[in-house]
Amino acid sequence: MTQSNPGISKAVIPAAGLGTRFLPATKATPKEMLPVVDKPAIQYVVEEAVSAGLSDVLMITGRNKRPLEDHFDRNYELEEALSRKGDAGRLARVQESSDLATMHYVRQGDPRGLGHAVLCAAPHVGDQPFAVLLGDDLIDPRDPLLARMVEVQARLGGSVIALMEVDPSQIHQYGCAAVKPTGEDDVVQITELVEKPDPAEAPSNLAIIGRYVLDPAIFGILRETEPGRGGEIQLTDAIQKLADAHGTGTPHGTGAPHHANADSAPSGPRDGGPVHGVIFKGRRYDTGDRGDYLRAIVRLACEREDLGPEFRAWLRSFVTEEM
Ligand code: G1P
Repeated sequence: MTQSNPGISKAVIPAAGLGTRFLPATKATPKEMLPVVDKPAIQYVVEEAVSAGLSDVLMITGRNKRPLEDHFDRNYELEEALSRKGDAGRLARVQESSDLATMHYVRQGDPRGLGHAVLCAAPHVGDQPFAVLLGDDLIDPRDPLLARMVEVQARLGGSVIALMEVDPSQIHQYGCAAVKPTGEDDVVQITELVEKPDPAEAPSNLAIIGRYVLDPAIFGILRETEPGRGGEIQLTDAIQKLADAHGTGTPHGTGAPHHANADSAPSGPRDGGPVHGVIFKGRRYDTGDRGDYLRAIVRLACEREDLGPEFRAWLRSFVTEEM
């Protein structure tokens, strides 16, 4: 599904992380390049941005991330060799990633947290709302999430973040949102955000998953955001301030009443708000987690037309006979 929105054309993908959970595989290879079936994880993420109508992609990279640039660039030697062999199928597979989107890269330098990575995008993004996609979150291509978020942002203004219900015991791994309802089932208004709370203190079991559509006012806030959890500049903290600035968040400790209409686009001087959440009920894999990474591969392989039938048959007999 392709969504066109003249207001949003840019996607930012932070990809500077070290990938320590996948060592030694990530010693010399960026974690984003690990294959999910036969495509690097990061290509699914870029494809998702493109199918939501965002064809300008900025990757925030760091040292040792050159393979990312190479992957989304032409490879003339390989293309030449494949066309000499007349292997049109593989040639198309090779060209797919370089034809996908207009790619840009900027290096983060000091890894000072997700908020800092997003701030590195400021000169490229300028004054338009933009999307952020985290590479560790793989959203099943059949369950479009970003396109829905772009549509909600176009209607309600401000910023939109993706939320998903998780088991309360898992909430400490995520940003967590307190929300109130709007007139739409899958859209909520954000009242409070806490980065990786202790389960006992979590305001809900709604986790932020790595998709955001942000108002550019976030940049000014990020510049002033002090390091938070883990000593890092947290995007979650900055989005909380965005909601507070609009009067839709609950300023911490004051118990102040909410006084904005959840369904109205902002009026008056631009304050970057409101902040809404889209609750995602589709399939998501955390490819930064080894178990979930394996599940993503098995699931997507089972559903592939070319590999699926044989692989499913093998898997069935493996599970029944060998486990
Ligand atoms: C980041 C965000 C967190 C969010 C998570 C989603 O954390 O800081 O709020 O819930 O991504 O994947 P990270 O997983 O990078 O530590």
